[in-house]
Amino acid sequence: MIDKQILNNINVLYAEDESIIQEGIKETLNLFGINVICAQNGQEGLELFKESNNKIDLILTDIKMPKLDGLGMIEKIREINRDIPIIITTAHQETSYLMQSIELNIDAYVLKPINIYKLEETLIKAIEPSILKKKLIEKNKKLEIEIAKNEEKQKIMEAQSRFAAMGEMISMIAHQWRQPLASIGTASFNLKYKLLSGKFDLTTKEGREEQAEFFTGKLDEIEFYVQNLTTTIDDFRNFYKTDKTIVKTTIDKSINSSLKILQKDLETNDIEIKLNLNSKNIINIYENEIIHVFINIIKNAQDKFLEKKIKNAVLEITTKDLDDGIEIEIYDNGGAFEKDNLDVIFEPYFSTKKEKNGTGIGLYMSKIIIEKNHNGKIAAKNINEGVSFNIILHSMI
Ligand SMILES: Nc1ncnc2c1ncn2[C@@H]1O[C@H](COP(=O)(O)OP(=O)(O)OP(=O)(O)O)[C@@H](O)[C@H]1O
Ligand SMILES: [Mg+2]
Repeated sequence: MIDKQILNNINVLYAEDESIIQEGIKETLNLFGINVICAQNGQEGLELFKESNNKIDLILTDIKMPKLDGLGMIEKIREINRDIPIIITTAHQETSYLMQSIELNIDAYVLKPINIYKLEETLIKAIEPSILKKKLIEKNKKLEIEIAKNEEKQKIMEAQSRFAAMGEMISMIAHQWRQPLASIGTASFNLKYKLLSGKFDLTTKEGREEQAEFFTGKLDEIEFYVQNLTTTIDDFRNFYKTDKTIVKTTIDKSINSSLKILQKDLETNDIEIKLNLNSKNIINIYENEIIHVFINIIKNAQDKFLEKKIKNAVLEITTKDLDDGIEIEIYDNGGAFEKDNLDVIFEPYFSTKKEKNGTGIGLYMSKIIIEKNHNGKIAAKNINEGVSFNIILHSMI
């Protein structure tokens, strides 16, 4: 399909010494929407071309002209630009020049007297490839800018998600530490109290033994809680490592690690966890990222349970091996999402928790982690009395 629009606004350098012919053709070309720059001979044509600053899209030239003829001009122009489309106008008796014009890589010729329809068709055929190429280059440039912008956006979102996760983590650590810290406080208070109140009769052997037993018991208790605090820190630190390392594991282990991090929160909020973990396949994954996804999904369910004040809140996690991967299902009974199509919840910044400062990037990042970084699939749907997230994962190596 020939697109005549393609001629609109192109710049043509037209060299022709017979001004009557030139005037007539120029007027017609103008009607096609072409801007015509006229030269009376090859020399003038060459100079105009050099001055044009690459603005000329096509050259139309007569052959026989004074000072410098058409082929002489083309030879010089080809030294500067090997690709610009060139059409020559020629009379029958000049066909002997055609061999030379082939060597100069001329795109087409039009016989004189010029048939306007033929000229239009020839112009279109000659200009089409270079205009398409220009358009393609422009499109590519725009695309590159778009890609760079997207990458920038992605980085900002990753940083936001990291910050949000960090905030959450600090509050989770605080949560998990509260109880052991309180226990250490009580144990040391008891020690001090018994010591200062003279409860033990240190003059007798029994009294001294009683004191030693009491002290050892309390110190063991303190040691146990300190160990507990240390483990919590290690769990979180492992999860929060910024380096992306591939870990060989089973998905069931990763789920247990996620639950360990969330354990206190879930317990405090009376959320029952039902586990049907049946995946034995060893897979290679960016485990920290995957744990991040599980935490995002579980925290969302917990947010909903709390917001809707759900009694008998249940979170059910099921895993199973597939022929070429693993399937994970995380279901909550906290009520359906308001729309049937849940795709919207994976969009960046979509959040129904604006008043609670929901960032709306938790699930967006989760989708990137599963689908882009792990080549898997994540989807959500309303089932029974709640929402179910389905994840398919494959081993990365
Ligand atoms: N289990 C679920 N049931 C119903 N709706 C959900 C569930 N999980 C997520 N959503 C909806 O998807 C939205 C987007 O979740 P996402 O985790 O991306 O952001 P958020 O939870 O709103 O914010 P943030 O994670 O920063 O707290 C939520 O605001 C909520 O409306
Ligand atoms: Mg969330």
